[in-house]
Amino acid sequence: MGTILSIANQKGGVGKTTTAINLASSLSYAEMKVLLIDLDYQANATTCLGINRGSFTHSVFDCLADNVGVEEAILRTDNPYIDVLPARTMVEGIEEKIIMNTNRDFILHTKLKDIKPRYDYILIDCPPSLGFVTINAMIASDGIIIPVQCEFLAMDGLTQLLNTIRMVQAKKKVNMETLTIFGVLLTMLDTRSTSGFQVVNEVKTYFGEKVFQTIIPRNVSCSNATFYGVPVTEFSPKSKSSLSYRQLAKEVISRHAEN
Ligand SMILES: Nc1ncnc2c1ncn2[C@@H]1O[C@H](COP(=O)(O)OP(=O)(O)OP(=O)(O)O)[C@@H](O)[C@H]1O
Ligand SMILES: [Mg+2]
Repeated sequence: MGTILSIANQKGGVGKTTTAINLASSLSYAEMKVLLIDLDYQANATTCLGINRGSFTHSVFDCLADNVGVEEAILRTDNPYIDVLPARTMVEGIEEKIIMNTNRDFILHTKLKDIKPRYDYILIDCPPSLGFVTINAMIASDGIIIPVQCEFLAMDGLTQLLNTIRMVQAKKKVNMETLTIFGVLLTMLDTRSTSGFQVVNEVKTYFGEKVFQTIIPRNVSCSNATFYGVPVTEFSPKSKSSLSYRQLAKEVISRHAEN
């Protein structure tokens, strides 16, 4: 049975989108069928999977506003293993429409039910906020991947994130469903600086076994790949960050098998 994983941290620029697209790409090398849901108005994940912003009619936000079913909005990509539910800049009025829905926190959860069995992994790239969009993602999910950037103030805001996860866990429990912290991913480690390793120790002390053994190094190929709008696993397959994401996919697959 497939699993739904949200990649979430309300802190901006910690590597959520980079992780979403590279994990999707790396899982595809393992012949896993993946749906990547881009839940961010910035639409970075959509662009990085080669989807032109003007080339589609329906976005995930139209689905949340209940205008269309997810099947109508899902797009194929050049990679036969990866489909995408794309995002685009919020169209005026859509947000109000979603907020007015009395069952708004469960919209995505309900919409994904029918298509979940078709995928090995559904990955959700969350926006940098803890608003109703992220809550929708968490309620729809079986697990959360929390990327933490190995920088000053890395742990900042994590208490708020964990409180939100607990609140969602309580909501899901009513329906006999669970939400786990699937893993904490250390990102953008500068292997030449001691402060980065201090963050690694701090995060490992706090989260213990939840922390993935794979650490994503800070690597220029990764930022260059973003610039050209492709996953680093394709842009520079032998780079350190690409190899790390390939390793992460193996860890994700074995963790999923254990759960
Ligand atoms: N391992 C890495 N090495 C170097 N640069 C990286 C790495 N990972 C991510 N970056 C760069 O850091 C920036 C932020 O990454 P990303 O967009 O994935 O973060 P985000 O958490 O999705 O941001 P937002 O909160 O705005 O959605 C991007 O420019 C990306 O190219
Ligand atoms: Mg992002």
